[in-house]
Amino acid sequence: MQVDWQGPDAVLQLLSRSGWLRSIRWVPEVDSTNRLAKSLADQADRPTPMLIVAKSQTQGRGRLGRSWFSDSGTLTFSLMLAAPQLAADRTRWPQLALVAGLAVCDVVGEVVEPVAVQLKWPNDVYLAGGKVAGVLIETAGHDNDHVVIGIGLNVATDLSKAPAEVQQRARSIRDYADHPVETFAVLPEIIDRIAVRIADWRTDSAAIANDFSKVCLLRGRRVAIDTAGQTLEGACLGIDGDGALRVRRDDGEVVEVRSGEVVRWSDEVEVHDG
Ligand code: BTN
Repeated sequence: MQVDWQGPDAVLQLLSRSGWLRSIRWVPEVDSTNRLAKSLADQADRPTPMLIVAKSQTQGRGRLGRSWFSDSGTLTFSLMLAAPQLAADRTRWPQLALVAGLAVCDVVGEVVEPVAVQLKWPNDVYLAGGKVAGVLIETAGHDNDHVVIGIGLNVATDLSKAPAEVQQRARSIRDYADHPVETFAVLPEIIDRIAVRIADWRTDSAAIANDFSKVCLLRGRRVAIDTAGQTLEGACLGIDGDGALRVRRDDGEVVEVRSGEVVRWSDEVEVHDG
C-alpha cells in the first residue's frame, strides 16, 4: 500500500488493517480533497481505492456548485475508485452517493445513539433536524472511468463560527454525543462501512434501497423538489431499486425523480403507505 501520512498514528493503523485501501494520503491543507483526487486520476502510480484526508480544507465544494464550510473539527476526505472497484454498469455509479450516505449514517448513528440519524435523498445525512454530513460524487479521469466520493462530516465543527445560513441548517456530532469525539477517529469505521456497502451494492442495488428506506427522512412527507428548473410537489413514497425518489403527485401519478434537490418537506409524516 502507498502511504503518505502525517495524521494520527492510531487512525493510520486502523485504516491499514482492512486491506481494502491501496493508497492513503494525508494533506495538511488543500483547497478541495475532491479536486486533488481528480487531478491524480490518471496517474499510474496512484493505486485505487485511494483515500485523501485533509487536516484543513480551504475551498470545499458542495453539490450544485455550492461551497462547503469546514473548520479543524470537520472531517473532510475523498475516496477515489476506479472501474475494477465499481459496478460494470456505469449508469449505476450515481447510486454511490446513496451508498456512501448510508455508510456515514450507520457510523454517526452509533456515535450519537439514541438520537436518530436519517438520510435526506439523495445523500445528506441529517441529525436532529439539520445536516451533519454531505456527499459529493464526481467522475474523473480522461475516460471518466474513476469516481471520487467526497465526504464532509461535522464531527467537532464549531458551528458558532460558521456563516449564519450554515449555523441555521447544520449540526455537529459534538453537540449530540455524550462523550468527546475526535475529528479523525470515526474515519476508519466509515471507510470499512463504505467498503462493505460497495461490495453489497455491486451485486445487489435493491439491498441499498431497502436500507435507505429505513432511514429515509422524506418518506411519507409532502415534498417540493426542484428538478430541471421545475418544481414538483407531492407525497414522498421512498426510493425505488435504482435509487430514484418516488413521489405521488396530487393527481395520483407516481413520478420517479433521478436528480434534483428537495427544497421543502413537511414536518409531519402524512402518508403511511409509502
Ligand atoms: C454537499 O452536501 O453539497 C456535499 C458536500 C461535500 C463536501 C466534501 S468535503 C470533502 C470533499 N471535498 C470537497 O471539496 N467536497 C467534499
